[in-house]
Amino acid sequence: MVREISAAAFGASHELYGAPSAARFKAGYGAVWGAAGAGGPAGPGGWSAERVARHHGRTRHLARTDPDGCWLIEDQAAGPVGAVLSYRREGTWALSLLAVVPGAQGKGVGKALLARAMMHGRACLRGVICAPDHPVAARTFRRAGFHLHPTMRLSGLPDPARLPAPDGPVHQGTERHRDLMDSVDRRTRGGAHGADHEELLRHYRLLVVDDLAGSGYCYLRGGRVETLAATSRRLATRLLTAALLAAPPGEPIRVDHILADTQWAVDVGIAAGLEITTAGFLALRGMRPAELALPSRVLP
Ligand SMILES: CC(C)(COP(=O)(O)OP(=O)(O)OC[C@H]1O[C@@H](n2cnc3c(N)ncnc32)[C@H](O)[C@@H]1OP(=O)(O)O)[C@@H](O)C(=O)NCCC(=O)NCCS
Repeated sequence: MVREISAAAFGASHELYGAPSAARFKAGYGAVWGAAGAGGPAGPGGWSAERVARHHGRTRHLARTDPDGCWLIEDQAAGPVGAVLSYRREGTWALSLLAVVPGAQGKGVGKALLARAMMHGRACLRGVICAPDHPVAARTFRRAGFHLHPTMRLSGLPDPARLPAPDGPVHQGTERHRDLMDSVDRRTRGGAHGADHEELLRHYRLLVVDDLAGSGYCYLRGGRVETLAATSRRLATRLLTAALLAAPPGEPIRVDHILADTQWAVDVGIAAGLEITTAGFLALRGMRPAELALPSRVLP
């Protein structure tokens, strides 16, 4: 199968490797992601050491927890030309990354990598991808059978004075809240993230709400809200408000992948004086857009 896809994509001088080794995959993936124009470790401007560490951490985490979902295409002369990171969790297949270097784009590499990763998820009823504003990515995911849902972004400097205080307690979360988070995810997206919380906890701050009315959680780093899920609109609003208030003063906010059904998040953004723009897509298969969740871009 590996050879069939490789040959279909390029001919005999290319090989497709499934997570060949964490180190090889990491090196190849870094080269591909940077060169794909995504401003990766080798990309224009480079990345901060902290950002590189976060991306290497994600690669290692997925190659360790779901190696059959991670693939790299190498050209014998040019080296790595494409990579995909995908994983399965409780009946949900998710794509974390798909990238092809510019010189190899438009030759079916992205499609072949996606097909291989989706084969790994063929037993899963649900599929999810957080996609950027990229016309070829949108086309590729739609052709693969995903429903495309345009999403919004909140950004800018918040005005904390305009935000009403959270309507109840919000706690610092730890590894001990994993069962709570898994329960919330089963309710909001149909399946838990499980081991992904180990990786998210390494790089993001965790806020948690848990009272008689329900539960919820939010991961954030600086002004960036990475993901949020809650069992009620009131708790989701409380968490997002607390996350914006927790951002370091002067740090710009960014909240991505807000769906049309997620107006509570838009309302919090308006209250904080943030800008609302359209940005990217959520590509879903076998699942409806969640009203009470903002998916993680890196581990959707
Ligand atoms: C998105 C991406 C992975 C696609 O990989 P690719 O190898 O260039 O794409 P493919 O050659 O497999 O083509 C996929 C589809 O897009 C079409 N396509 C490819 N390049 C195109 C172009 N420049 N203009 C219009 N259509 C194009 C192909 O015809 C194909 O459609 P089809 O199934 O109808 O034939 C690649 O462009 C990339 O790395 N982008 C930057 C990172 C990114 O945005 N990743 C996605 C989110 S994680």
